[in-house]
Amino acid sequence: AKQNGQGSYRGTGGELHQTNTDSQAHLTTNQGVSVSDDQNTLTVGPSGPQLLEDHVMREKITHFDHERIPERVVHARGYGAHGYFEPYKSHAKLTKAAFLQDPKERTPVFVRFSTVAGSAGSPDTARDVRGFAVKFYTSEGNYDLVGNNIPVFFIQDAIKFPDLIHSVKPAPDRDFPQAQSAHDTFWDFVGLTPESMHMLMWVMSDRAIPRSFRMMEGFGIHTFRMINKQGDSTFVKFHWRPKLGTYSLMWDEAVKIAGADPDFHRRDLWNAIESGDYPEWELSVQAFTAEQAEEFGYDVLDPTKLVPEEEVPLTPLGRMVLDRNVENFFAETEQVAFCPSHVVPGIDFSNDPLLQGRLFSYLDTQLSRLGSPNFHQIPINAPKNSAQNFQRDGHMQMGVPAGRVANEPNSLDDGSPRENPKEGFASYQAEEAGSKQRIRPESFADHYTQARLFYHSMTTPEQKHIVGGLAFELGKCKETKVHTRMLGHLRHIDKDLSIEVAEALGMKGQADKIKPAVEPFDMKPSPALSQYAKAP
Ligand code: HEM
Repeated sequence: AKQNGQGSYRGTGGELHQTNTDSQAHLTTNQGVSVSDDQNTLTVGPSGPQLLEDHVMREKITHFDHERIPERVVHARGYGAHGYFEPYKSHAKLTKAAFLQDPKERTPVFVRFSTVAGSAGSPDTARDVRGFAVKFYTSEGNYDLVGNNIPVFFIQDAIKFPDLIHSVKPAPDRDFPQAQSAHDTFWDFVGLTPESMHMLMWVMSDRAIPRSFRMMEGFGIHTFRMINKQGDSTFVKFHWRPKLGTYSLMWDEAVKIAGADPDFHRRDLWNAIESGDYPEWELSVQAFTAEQAEEFGYDVLDPTKLVPEEEVPLTPLGRMVLDRNVENFFAETEQVAFCPSHVVPGIDFSNDPLLQGRLFSYLDTQLSRLGSPNFHQIPINAPKNSAQNFQRDGHMQMGVPAGRVANEPNSLDDGSPRENPKEGFASYQAEEAGSKQRIRPESFADHYTQARLFYHSMTTPEQKHIVGGLAFELGKCKETKVHTRMLGHLRHIDKDLSIEVAEALGMKGQADKIKPAVEPFDMKPSPALSQYAKAP
């Protein structure tokens, strides 16, 4: 008997089959063969053994068995949306990048926000850095600005990244995510890595528990270059500022929400876009010359330092609006591949050693995460202009050129793609010289001054939240030597901070006795910052 036109009962088990009418699509195998029964495996008689020849069942189960791909080694939990970017005016003085020239030209974007340490199923509101990755599908190819919601980073050299991440991930023996052991390993690592002190102040502050992705700032962190048509280079630091303002949760709220609604941030973004309340950010740069950078008193190639806005104010470039949710989370948000080395003519790198390491890491990891050197052909990753070159074959190759030529130079096919010396991407010809060595510059040695500037720029309630964050997180750590080492670092940042944290840890009276491990090496802050700079 027909059931509301949806299907019919069939078989002795009385199960519901939704069979097609003339106007409905046929359910098929992946080979396009229409399937008569999708719910019963082929057996010998109604209760006999199953038959190996059941290609319909085997294809379905095999595909299911391979549904999962490896999650990202970091930033595994994320949420994405589509939108557009439009510049306010031409920024030709700064850069020749096509997407920053014409206020009438909208560039499509895809953005993925993420946490860093947790797995794909971890709660949204954990205390963590947030990824803020933007892919601009420009007329000259894809440009990825792969940033975070905090303007500095933990380490100065990419060679330390595996150690930093291992220290915050579950321990190899017990695999507790973010639990007791990870607190020990993380605080042990950062205590032995004083360059992380500035970032730690941000991570223990309210910045690490944002209220919403829509209320988060974003930063490119590293110093990049912009190159104009004349070939002039200007150093830039990228900033995203949310139109709604920057807001955080309270720690108690973050903990409760993590239990009650682990999808809090993704739901918030999806609902806002779905209801037409499109989130918006302004993109700005701090632009400065190499000569100006020499005067700053800190090294602009050091990713643990920011350039204070009192020193170089922001130049607004344009705005980004997110106005479309994804249609398929896996196809888009999971398979998107951001990479700091995706730049377009007019944008270039600096010698920041963390950035230089990142330029290698992303393509390398994506080859194993997405499983094929052709992942750039997945629609979410494909440039909107056409990619044309002589790379060929490999798993899941779709871009199969017609004809016999797969090499250049060639004189057999005048229609094949050619180099573009005038407008193609050409690296900025920075002068470089020196001997090969493994050494960090002396100008990277001040680990405390900007941590102190940050702490002193906070209001009293914000400072209390930092003390609370440190006390809570360090309180999860069992090792006294790790506590003592961290209190020594805090002593370099601010004496009262170290005393308050020591008291909260039940180490009253001890902070004062801790001898700093190393003498701090202080930079000279500019007069504009002197109000925050008083020594501890
Ligand atoms: C992923 C930002 C440092 C390796 C990501 C993502 C962001 C990000 C936002 C997630 C992208 C997405 O949503 O798909 C940053 C920032 C850094 C930094 C701002 C420092 C300023 C590093 C370093 C390394 C690294 C130093 C390695 C040397 C990776 C890897 C992934 C990743 C392997 C996973 C990529 C994927 O599977 O697609 N990073 N990261 N990151 N990052 Fe970083």
